Amino acid sequence: MAEPRPRVWVSQPLYADLEARLDEWFEVARTPRVTDHAPGAIAAALADADGALVTLNDRIGETEVAGASRLRAVANVGVGYDNLDVAALAARGIVATNTPGVLTETTADFGFALMMAAARRITEAEHWLRDGRWQGWGFHELLGAEIHGSTLGILGMGRIGQGIARRARGFGMRVLYHNRHRLPEAVEEACAATWTTRAALLADSDHLVLVLPYTADNHHIIDAGALAAMKPTATLTNIARGGLVDEGALAEALQSGRLAAAGLDVFEGEPAVDPRLLACRNVVLTPHVASASLPTRRAMVALAVDNLVAAMGFGPDAGHPPSPVTRIP
Ligand code: DGY
Repeated sequence: MAEPRPRVWVSQPLYADLEARLDEWFEVARTPRVTDHAPGAIAAALADADGALVTLNDRIGETEVAGASRLRAVANVGVGYDNLDVAALAARGIVATNTPGVLTETTADFGFALMMAAARRITEAEHWLRDGRWQGWGFHELLGAEIHGSTLGILGMGRIGQGIARRARGFGMRVLYHNRHRLPEAVEEACAATWTTRAALLADSDHLVLVLPYTADNHHIIDAGALAAMKPTATLTNIARGGLVDEGALAEALQSGRLAAAGLDVFEGEPAVDPRLLACRNVVLTPHVASASLPTRRAMVALAVDNLVAAMGFGPDAGHPPSPVTRIP
């Protein structure tokens, strides 16, 4: 009798044609609609799974894998993987993977757009117009901050940070960055970016963009103290993870005029948004969409599928998933 095929769980509908590749190798348990899985539901889904294709909505840690004795691989559709407790997975020999690279340019485009929207008060201006407040060309109305010739600070200089730096060049910006590890000189030159300390980055940036991975160590890295160290004319843009910013302190800085403006695509309790931020007129708020273009979302799913197939020991890259975030046992 033929061996039963490994079983993989797909936590929400993605793209049927790309998911179909899984059917070549596995018995696939699909989730019929986009689902906010209740606590316990993920554990139940993983209990009889050998592999899983999941998204940022799915938090997988110790509790979720406790009963998943067959689970060998978890492929995350997303470059960030703070939804996975990597240590808990690694301890059980479960390979975790993510989707770097394929979303770099799309996400950098969006980060730049959000920074510009905050600086030039684009959504605020639109609300003002829609509210019927436009009485005639306003010489003194809605003055924003300059982009060209200003100093861009990038906190976290991985692929996406570098993409933003390359874009800044076209706008004649001076680019500073801070990263745990200084980049090789050739990369700094290609990005026309200069490494600086975190303190200098906060003090010197006209526009600060957060693009670093979220970890327990950098929780609220932008807190009241960091905001106080920034120029009052500066803007803050976050396209990384909400937990990097103390949202209460940010709302207070925006309301008091301690900081000129912010652009936020990510939130600590998303999809909930802190009401204090909703009350600020000088913040552009978007619902975690920096990578949201159809080609990019498809590329993310395609890479996650490749990762899962390979991590489970099938296909041309059997045993060598393209982007593991845990060591391959
Ligand atoms: C990611 O991939 O981590 C983004 O937040 C969503 O694309």
